[in-house]
Order: sequence, then structure tokens, then C-alpha cells
Amino acid sequence: MNLNDIYTAAADLIAAKIDLPADEIRAALVRPPQPEMGDLGFPCFTLAKKLRAAPPKIAADLAAQISVAEPFIKITAVGGYVNFTLSLAALGEVAVAAALADDWGEFADNGKTVVIDFSSPNIAKPLAVHHIRSTMLGAALARLYAITGWRVVTINHLGDWGTNFGQLMVAYTRAKNSGETPATDLDAQLKLYLEYHQAAETNPALEGEARAWFKKLEDGDAETVKMWKIFVDESVKGLQKLYDRLNVKFDHYTGESFFNDKMAATQRRLQDAGLLVKSDGALVVELQDVGIDAPCLIQKTDGATTYATRDLAAAEYRHHEYNFDKCLYVVANQQELHFRQIFAVLKKMGYAWADGGEHVKFGMLSFAAGVFGEERATGSTRKGQIIFLDAVLARAVEKAREIIGANGRGDEGNAAILAEQVGVGAVIFSEFMQRRQKDVIFSWDKALNMQGDSGPYLQYTHARLSSLITKSGVVVGGGDAQLLTSALSRAVLLMLAEFPRVLLGATAENEPSRVAEYLLELCAVFNRLYADKKEHQIITDDAALTASRIDLVAAVRNTLRRGLAVLGIAAPEKM
Ligand code: ARG
Repeated sequence: MNLNDIYTAAADLIAAKIDLPADEIRAALVRPPQPEMGDLGFPCFTLAKKLRAAPPKIAADLAAQISVAEPFIKITAVGGYVNFTLSLAALGEVAVAAALADDWGEFADNGKTVVIDFSSPNIAKPLAVHHIRSTMLGAALARLYAITGWRVVTINHLGDWGTNFGQLMVAYTRAKNSGETPATDLDAQLKLYLEYHQAAETNPALEGEARAWFKKLEDGDAETVKMWKIFVDESVKGLQKLYDRLNVKFDHYTGESFFNDKMAATQRRLQDAGLLVKSDGALVVELQDVGIDAPCLIQKTDGATTYATRDLAAAEYRHHEYNFDKCLYVVANQQELHFRQIFAVLKKMGYAWADGGEHVKFGMLSFAAGVFGEERATGSTRKGQIIFLDAVLARAVEKAREIIGANGRGDEGNAAILAEQVGVGAVIFSEFMQRRQKDVIFSWDKALNMQGDSGPYLQYTHARLSSLITKSGVVVGGGDAQLLTSALSRAVLLMLAEFPRVLLGATAENEPSRVAEYLLELCAVFNRLYADKKEHQIITDDAALTASRIDLVAAVRNTLRRGLAVLGIAAPEKM
């Protein structure tokens, strides 16, 4: 049993008395504003017209008709609401027993599939800042969907095709011609990228050369394709190191080049559907009739295919391969028009499944002054503000080490591992401190604030609770929730019980920040109890009470651990 089942039970009780579907009642249930009022409430306001009675009257009649039984101990009318109060036994089951089980927060297989396209950086140029956000958001979404019962397919739609490669090849051959043997790993590629742009400033002819290289690549010239392949493989290798560090995995790396041989068929289908229109020598799909002014560009004047055509081919391919119910694109706000166009064109092609497409947008990330240099940095490559995620992580780990050391809690043997967990965790968590569509300004003070609202703070709370459990010597799972009678304990229990519903809500909104917010609130509620040593001493002379309180502590600890895991953050045992 979890809290969802309890909501269902309440809805069924009401549905038996009035003419409304149980699902609708269930969706209308709310949390009363004051804990004394009850644990969940059914608002009677919308019934007033139909029943021709005032909401308080309806609520009072309903409450009088429903007989009280487990999992409820009280059902009363409060204003226009019918409020239900849970028994401690039921609360113990959904908040403690459930939280101590291995499958806490997990939902049964729902038979649905979600494809998540995230990170998807353009390679052959430095990793852009928005890809950091896409990477962490996408990875958290993948875990959220998995825990709530979806089959998840993760895809890295690498930008592995384009004139950038021509530029690299120019720089590479120039270096070679001057007698060097240039390396090709990610760092070397970055150097080539910078060398090209520096040289092209005084020698514009290089642009033509880069285009010529790319043309050779598109024409399938064997040597050029070989060189391209080396650059791509090395890039992916470099990226993977970063992904490993962030605990991110992809089921498929099907980048833009993967669709080179699939676009002709897509274009033919567009043609056959009568959707292609000539416009100044280019081919487009008009979308004005569906409220989008800008037409979707399918083929450029020079015959080259486009980003949009690749995405159309990719969507068809994904639907064919994975038969998805949802296909998420975790991509910055800036590409809103692009995805509106893609979904609209797919609809025009007659694909009902296009409704499953969703652009999971997010705002801009920038770095406060002092993180990278004197000025606030937005990571614009053109302005030379290249942000290396690697460097951010390294600095974060260094800083974490200082903090852990200063707190005097560093376990020397594990100090390096711990610093990595805390530093990386701080960077990841800062991604989830606000709704995804908001812009983020990253600063060390916020990311590493040990006093609250940060990843390290949650990690620290987790570690503190873990040591408390160990120190108590009590075996977890032997308590009785009915002994947890105080108002503060009840608040913690109710908060715990919410966890599975929070996961569901975060998934429905594609909003991992909801999990972060919940974890901070859970800590806040628990810390209020923990600080109240007089009333809530955890380890007491009463063995049964101690066992029950330790169970509560362990339930909070497990919830923190599970929640942090969903966000991709490690939960250290000691700190
Ligand atoms: N490579 C693109 C960029 O860097 C993002 C790709 C997102 N995914 C997609 N299917 N279009 O802006």
C-alpha cells in the first residue's frame, strides 16, 4: 500500500455516495492547510450547482453518511471540504514500512515507452553550456520515468555532421603540412578548432576550404570519411569520460550522420503527401495554416539537407524502432520554433503519434563572476568564453575537499571519493534548484552552501542520519509507527508518504526540480523534529520507542538516498 492507494480509498468512499466518477474525485483531493484539519480533503464547491446546496452543507451531509474505517480514523466536514484523517497504522505502513523496503518509490511497469533525446552536443567544437543542462536534466528524467514504471530509451542525437568538421580538417591538414603530427583526441580537437578560427580571421579563404572538405565528406570520399570517423570516435570517447563522471548513460548514440541515408525516404514521403513547396530555390513545408509563420526548411538552395529534415527522419526512425508513447527532446528554450515545426510537419504527414513528441525546454545557464574569471560568463564560444564542464567539476571537487576538511569530518582514506561525490553532486544539484525554464546563474556560494538548499546539505543530512542509525546499534525495521504520536512526527510521516506521488508529479511535468524541492522540504521538516531534543530524543531508555524513532530516521534516510539517486547524486554514508 502507498499513499496513492489511500487516495483511491478515500475517492471510492465518496464515489459510493455521490454521482461522480472515482477518478475525478481522486484528482480533486487536496492536502488541508492545517494538519489538525486532516490529511486529505475533498472540496465540494463544484457540486454546489448540481446539488443545489451550499458546499458546507454538502460536505456535512457526505461526512455524516460515510462510516469511518481503516485506513481512516476520522472523517469530518471542515467548511466546504470533507476531510479524512489517516490512522497511525496506515501512515506507518505507507511512510515507514514502504520507505524501508527495497522498492521504495518504484511503480509497476505501466507498459509505456518513452524515448528521451538529451545532451546531444554538436561535436568538433567545444561542448556548449546548454548541453550541460540538457545532460543533467535528461539523465534525471530518464531515472524518473524508469522508477515510475516506464520503459526508457535514451538517445544521444550527436551533432556529428556539418561544416565544423570541414574546419577541423583544414586545421588538421595545415598542421600536418607544416611537419607536425597533430593528435586527434578531444583536447587536440579543441586546439584545432581554435587554430582554425584564429587563422580564418586573417585568411577568409579558409572558409571556402572548410566547405570544400565538408563537400568531400558529403560526397563520401573515402579518406575524408576516415578522418571524420576518427574525429567522431575520439569526441565520443572524450564525452564518455565526462558522462561516466556524471553517471550518465545512453542506450544509443544515433547522431545526425546516422540519418544521412534515411532522409531521402523522408523527403519522398513529404513529397508524396503533397507537402513540399518550392521557395526561392529551396524546399519547405508551409505551416501558416497551423499557426506557425515560419515555414519548415527541408532542403536548402544548394541541395543540402537540414537539421529539420534530420529530425523528421529521426522521429520516424524512433517511432518505428521503439514504438514510443512519448518522445522527449531535452533542448534549450531557443529551439522552441524548431520543435513546433517538427511536430507540426509530422502531424501533416499523418502521424498521430506526433502528439507524443514533447520539447522539454530549459533556460540559460551562466556562471557568476568569480566562477571562471572576473566577469560573469555565458559560455559564448565566439566571445572566447569556452566553459569546460571538466574544469567546473574539477574546481567543485577541489572546493568540496576544502569544505570537508574544514568541517573536520574527512575520513582520510575516502577523502578523495567523498570530495568527488560532494563536488559533482553540488554541480548537479544546482541544476535542479529552480524550475527548468528559468535561467540559472551558477555560483559557488549557492552550490556548496552546507547550511541549506544545496546538494552537499542533503548529502550531509543523509550521512548524519546514517551515522545516527549506526551509533544507535538498533536493527532497522523493528519499530512500531503507532508510538510516533507527536504532531511533528506526524508531519514527517505525511511528508515521507508523499514521496511516490512527488515522483509521479515530477515525471508528469518533466520537472526533476520537484524532487529536489521535496527533498529539501523533507529535511527541513525532519530537522525541526530532530532539533526538538526534549520531545524527540531519538535514542531513549525505552527500547520500543527508540526502535520506532530509528525506523523513522531510516525512512527519511532512505528517501533522501532514493531521491538523490534519481537526480544522479551520490549519498555518502559518512561526511
Ligand atoms: N545538436 C543540437 C544543438 O547542439 C541539439 C540536438 C537536440 N536534439 C535533436 N533531436 N534536435 O543545438
